[in-house]
Amino acid sequence: MTSWRRARWCWLMFASACRDVPMNYMVGHGPVASSEARLGWWLVIVSGVVVAIVSLLVVIGGWRRRPGTRDARALERTAAHGGLLWIYLGGLIIPAVILVISFALTLGTLHATARPGRDPAATIQVIGHRWWWEVRYIDPDPAQTIETANEIHVPVGRPVRIQLTSADVIHSFWVPQLAGKTDVIPGQTNVAWLEADSAGVYRGACTEYCGLQHANMALVVIAEPPAAFSAWQSAQRASAAAPSDPEAAAGLAVFQKAACATCHAIRGTDALGRVGPDLTHLASRLTLAAGTLENTRGNLAGWIGNAQAIKPGNDMPVMTIAPRDLQALLAYLETLK
Ligand code: CUA
Repeated sequence: MTSWRRARWCWLMFASACRDVPMNYMVGHGPVASSEARLGWWLVIVSGVVVAIVSLLVVIGGWRRRPGTRDARALERTAAHGGLLWIYLGGLIIPAVILVISFALTLGTLHATARPGRDPAATIQVIGHRWWWEVRYIDPDPAQTIETANEIHVPVGRPVRIQLTSADVIHSFWVPQLAGKTDVIPGQTNVAWLEADSAGVYRGACTEYCGLQHANMALVVIAEPPAAFSAWQSAQRASAAAPSDPEAAAGLAVFQKAACATCHAIRGTDALGRVGPDLTHLASRLTLAAGTLENTRGNLAGWIGNAQAIKPGNDMPVMTIAPRDLQALLAYLETLK
């Protein structure tokens, strides 16, 4: 492969990889993120071009000003007569044009970030915990409020309002392909906006160092067509169905006996714990432990058995559950769709 072809191949690989990198903030998939990405690209390109041109001029100037050369004498004459033009052009006009364009783009981005052009489809309270995200869809009727964790569903093409606060330390909420970062501060509510142009799963993360498992404090935003979003909302509003299968019914008893219910809530049962995530529709979620594990039966078994080995320092204790009880518990948790 010639070096030119190799360079081109590398660039194509890099470009296609960037498009698929979930945390790539230079690609926007919604109005807020697209405006921020546009501003980012403008600043990167214009500063790169300015640095390249200035470096080139410094090298050329140094070369031509070698003492005694004909160019050096010519330069002195130019400086005496036409030099001011270059000073006005390079020192005033071009920087002014660049700064005015940057200022206008910044104002546009601030406007896009401040509030959307339309009424929000939902208001979602997101509460940062060490190390997971509590998610509550606020409804005037408290019975209609949805509670979930580490997963936010939004309708495509509609903005949602995110009210951010923290239960412990400062976190930061960031879904790079949908919106910029917003700090999550205890005792304060910050507002962010999200809107997705197309259906998909967008990864987000905590971006303020908040302790041992800061890196395992991820979330996903699932953007889906409005009909699918409404169906999801209806399903999430429902309480957990009573288990019909005897093994799952035994699993519910294990859940209550093994102290799971002290920390977790399952609507429709006696479990009302508020320390950990609400598990009413656990089986409908894509991940476990704030994006640390894929939500599979095996991972769930490992997580229940020894969460400290997977995510050291989190609040989930090591549970001692007999193998048959664990299988019943897993069978029950799998019914929580
Ligand atoms: Cu929460 Cu870092």
